[in-house]
Amino acid sequence: MDRLIIFDTTLRDGEQSPGASMTKEEKVRIAKQLEKMRVDVIEAGFAAASPGDFEAVQAVASAIKDSTVCSLARAQAGDIQKAGDAIKPAAHGRIHTFIATSPIHMQHKLRMQPDQVLAAAVDAVKFARTLTDDVEFSAEDAVRSEIDFLCRVFEAVIDAGAKTINVPDTVGYSIPDLWAERFKTLIERVPNADKVVWSTHCHNDLGMAVANSLAAVRAGARQVECTINGLGERAGNASLEEIVMAVRTRKDVFNVATGIDATQIVPASKLVSTITGYPVQPNKAVVGANAFAHESGIHQDGVLKHRETYEIMRAQDVGWHTNKLTLGKLSGRNAFKTRLSELGIELEGEVALNAAFKKFKELADKKSEIFDDDLHALVSDEAVTPEVEHFQLVSITAHTETGEEPFAKVTIAEDHKEKHAESRGAGPVDATFSAIESIAHSDAELLLYSVNNVTQGTDSQGEVTVRLSKGGRIVNGIGADTDIVVASAKAYVNALNKLAGAQKLNPQLSP
Ligand code: KIV
Ligand code: ZN
Repeated sequence: MDRLIIFDTTLRDGEQSPGASMTKEEKVRIAKQLEKMRVDVIEAGFAAASPGDFEAVQAVASAIKDSTVCSLARAQAGDIQKAGDAIKPAAHGRIHTFIATSPIHMQHKLRMQPDQVLAAAVDAVKFARTLTDDVEFSAEDAVRSEIDFLCRVFEAVIDAGAKTINVPDTVGYSIPDLWAERFKTLIERVPNADKVVWSTHCHNDLGMAVANSLAAVRAGARQVECTINGLGERAGNASLEEIVMAVRTRKDVFNVATGIDATQIVPASKLVSTITGYPVQPNKAVVGANAFAHESGIHQDGVLKHRETYEIMRAQDVGWHTNKLTLGKLSGRNAFKTRLSELGIELEGEVALNAAFKKFKELADKKSEIFDDDLHALVSDEAVTPEVEHFQLVSITAHTETGEEPFAKVTIAEDHKEKHAESRGAGPVDATFSAIESIAHSDAELLLYSVNNVTQGTDSQGEVTVRLSKGGRIVNGIGADTDIVVASAKAYVNALNKLAGAQKLNPQLSP
């Protein structure tokens, strides 16, 4: 069986979803989970987009040893140099350079003639090869590019030293038959096609990103670019979990194997959802809460008699039910530290560990059983190091009573100076947010407020995501607590800190 390379672009194309921009620390956490899942290539970002992006790519390159770490770069020397610098610490580093090849992009966006585009592509690949041996070239909007021109460009960049040729359906326009046809034609007609790995990168505008990617695999593609939960520009990218499980479940059809440890899929999905604030729809294939639930009596009866009557995959094979009961009130610091490291969570330094352990003890006082998901939520909640926070939640009182207008009183430390405020609102969360706002005066627009239970039961922690927008910048704040008003206040304060501290804009590269 041929090997299918899984190229994850959650940290780059996924980050291009509105509001999904991630901090350096968040990117490193996700990258470590991707490495644990044995993703072949992690596209960590677009190093030239901003100093923040550069640092994030560099941090991922330093933290990851087993997967290849990649940075995107336009076909321009400055971008490529930055990408090369950012991936320098990587054990295996790749530069992914791209330029658009469709008439509509060349004429209206690049304002370049086809020959200029071809020359820029060749120069970009040659320059990238002086910085690393592993160079990938993408023809942006390949789906709407003329096939003759595409063949010319690919032949030239392969001669220039590209090792992977990526064919993107940038606008999610293709359909499976046509996408497979395009790959067959390219592989047949490009004379040096056998010297490279052919890669597919599909967007989901017509809901066919996964189907198109799989059609490309059937036609000879041996790398798929995809994201966890299908996150990405507009309607998103092909979803990693669906691609991996499709080729695994139907190996009779695809005859390829990935190196992915599928039991890490659900933990990765949860982590990405928590960090980005993008919930997973319950009926989402593989990672949705209902993906393995059987509602109808006939189905339940069938599954009880013989699981395979209605199930083509096993829930535990993709990492469901790994939410183990792990720790309790009496667990010590060592047990806590060990379980965190088993979960792939590494806290930097004793101070961070002590702070997280203190929170764990507080949680264990309220909630007798601590599950793995509680630990993930606790660490997400702890992710912003207190000393760099502009605002800190000191205390909160919220009051609700039937027939009375809800009321909240908060104390917030702004640059270590305590300020108090109270407010009324439609509910306790509304009152809390307006009290915090009367201290912070951020004037940010609230784009999203969502609450999810971390585990089962009414003593579960609530994990709250707050998405704020101000001056073109969109940030997500996360907070977790067994009291959802407190979790909401933490999430709001976390979002305010990100607005105050974020140094980078979300790079909106492709259309
Ligand atoms: O969709 C696209 O064309 C891209 C390229 C930069 C690979 O994301
Ligand atoms: Zn894309």
